Amino acid sequence: MIYLDNAATSFPKPPEVLEEMLETYSRLGVLPGKQSYGPAAACDRYLEEARSQIAAFFGSRNPEKVLFAYNSTAALKAIIHGLAEPGSHVISTRLEHNSVLSPLLRLRDRGVITLDTVSFDTNGFIDPQEVADLIGPSTRLVVLNHVSNVLGTIQPVCEIGRICGENGVPLVLDAAQSAGLVPIDMPAMNIQAVAFTGHKSLLGPTGIGGLVLGEAMDLRAINLGRPGADAPNTRYPVGFPYCVEPGTPNLLGIFGLCAAMRHVEHKGIGNLHGRVTSLARALRDGLASLEAVKLYCAQNLDNHTGIISCNLEGVDPGDFCVLLDSDFGIAARSGLNCAPLVHEDLGTSPRGAVRFSFGAFNTEEQVTAVLAAVRAIASR
Ligand SMILES: Cc1ncc(COP(=O)(O)O)c(C=O)c1O
Repeated sequence: MIYLDNAATSFPKPPEVLEEMLETYSRLGVLPGKQSYGPAAACDRYLEEARSQIAAFFGSRNPEKVLFAYNSTAALKAIIHGLAEPGSHVISTRLEHNSVLSPLLRLRDRGVITLDTVSFDTNGFIDPQEVADLIGPSTRLVVLNHVSNVLGTIQPVCEIGRICGENGVPLVLDAAQSAGLVPIDMPAMNIQAVAFTGHKSLLGPTGIGGLVLGEAMDLRAINLGRPGADAPNTRYPVGFPYCVEPGTPNLLGIFGLCAAMRHVEHKGIGNLHGRVTSLARALRDGLASLEAVKLYCAQNLDNHTGIISCNLEGVDPGDFCVLLDSDFGIAARSGLNCAPLVHEDLGTSPRGAVRFSFGAFNTEEQVTAVLAAVRAIASR
């Protein structure tokens, strides 16, 4: 199989990440706590160090503001529901994944918030000035997708962060696609919360992600809780981390996430990014030479990751993917990629497009094979 669905989840995982994850779990996979027996205390320390590692990864100096969550969907839901108070005006974009749109639209439909969504230009970028123009006295939150999971464009976060900072509005970043591929420095970029997931560009396992909050962000704003952790207390606990992390943590996931972050740092985020972008560029150039292919991507791929979406004239995207798989062993994803507003604006609703997404293990030869496959399908 030529796996080109890395924007859904990276696959395979680096063997050294899987090995370290299992090795740590076999030593420390017990309920963490300040207990008398060694592994419980060691696991507790591991979790503390994990928070420091994750904070540092995002440029934060506040490990006590790192929260584990199931994935970015859970993290985004918690922060959006935590920050959006009745009467809040929220600004987001039409590039968003349903992980952002669903909680926002639910709050809007219930009359809790008012919502504006900024459009993207023909190259797939948000104009920061449009965000600035929408900020008003009741704006409480800006939520932004860092890297579009349909278009692969890297949004101008620094500029949007500066505007949010000047207006005292927290910027929440959906880093599901970007974490591990694009550097994120929360203080330098004026980001108040980063929601991330472990299983995409971070090359870790599924079922683990989290939220990193800025120094000024109040933990009480986060709508999570762990009943029972504070044994004599039958109410929701108030102390960190139990006030924000429900139930027993996903230890195997956390061990995998930490191993994966070390792996990504060792390989170099810039190197990993450069590699997937050069593969995307080769695919884009090849596809652009085929008349029957309609590409949905920026003119130049300077602020871009390894995602290329396209359609083949007269071919349903679902059928296109079935042919790629059955006749050529190529795994790509068709549909709306949980980003329906992007496809509305591209004019590709309701069937969407075919998305090829590169990861750490793809090669130039695979790009050549994909181009040959598309040429063959186009000529049928
Ligand atoms: C931009 C974006 N946000 C959020 C998500 C949700 O990620 P997860 O399923 O890991 O919560 C995705 C997944 O594809 C995504 O691409």
